[in-house]
Amino acid sequence: MEMRELTIEDYDAIIELWRESGISHRPKGRDSREEMEKQMGLIPELFLGAFEGSVLVGVVIGTDDTRKGWVNRLAVRPDHGRRGIGTALLREMEERLRRRGNRIIGVLIETPNEASERFFEKMGYEPYGSIAYLSKRDSDEV
Ligand SMILES: CC(C)(COP(=O)(O)OP(=O)(O)OC[C@H]1O[C@@H](n2cnc3c(N)ncnc32)[C@H](O)[C@@H]1OP(=O)(O)O)[C@@H](O)C(=O)NCCC(=O)NCCS
Repeated sequence: MEMRELTIEDYDAIIELWRESGISHRPKGRDSREEMEKQMGLIPELFLGAFEGSVLVGVVIGTDDTRKGWVNRLAVRPDHGRRGIGTALLREMEERLRRRGNRIIGVLIETPNEASERFFEKMGYEPYGSIAYLSKRDSDEV
């Protein structure tokens, strides 16, 4: 497995991987080709892919809001699960977020998601307890 920064050339493979892994994503909103190209241009080091040969088998996006780092859209191809790919991607992303000054790294998990909750707990993440996540959106697609 090799890891490298993703570019917009990888866009179709990223969307396909998210689709296969069942993770929710917004191809008409913040995950559209145009939006992703813009985001990659701003902070390219926070878009990471894991590859087996030329095949994309894992992806993760980091965001840095200047107070915390966030792990987004982490996904591994189902037929490549439990081989340490998620671990490798997350460790590298944590390192990159720390280098940018983040001392807290967070992730939001749509529950129920047993695999993801077990995975992040194993990686040292602790559930916060009582948080209600509210958002105000310009549309359902963003
Ligand atoms: C969560 C996910 C990224 C894990 O990727 P992965 O490459 O399979 O993870 P790893 O092989 O590095 O697993 C590390 C550890 O996490 C835990 N883990 C991973 N998948 C698990 C599962 N399905 N059930 C229980 N524990 C699991 C295990 O402790 C595992 O260690 P082990 O294999 O030695 O027991 C992957 O299951 C996935 O893509 N899920 C669908 C998308 C998703 O929900 N993403 C998270 C959004 S917040």
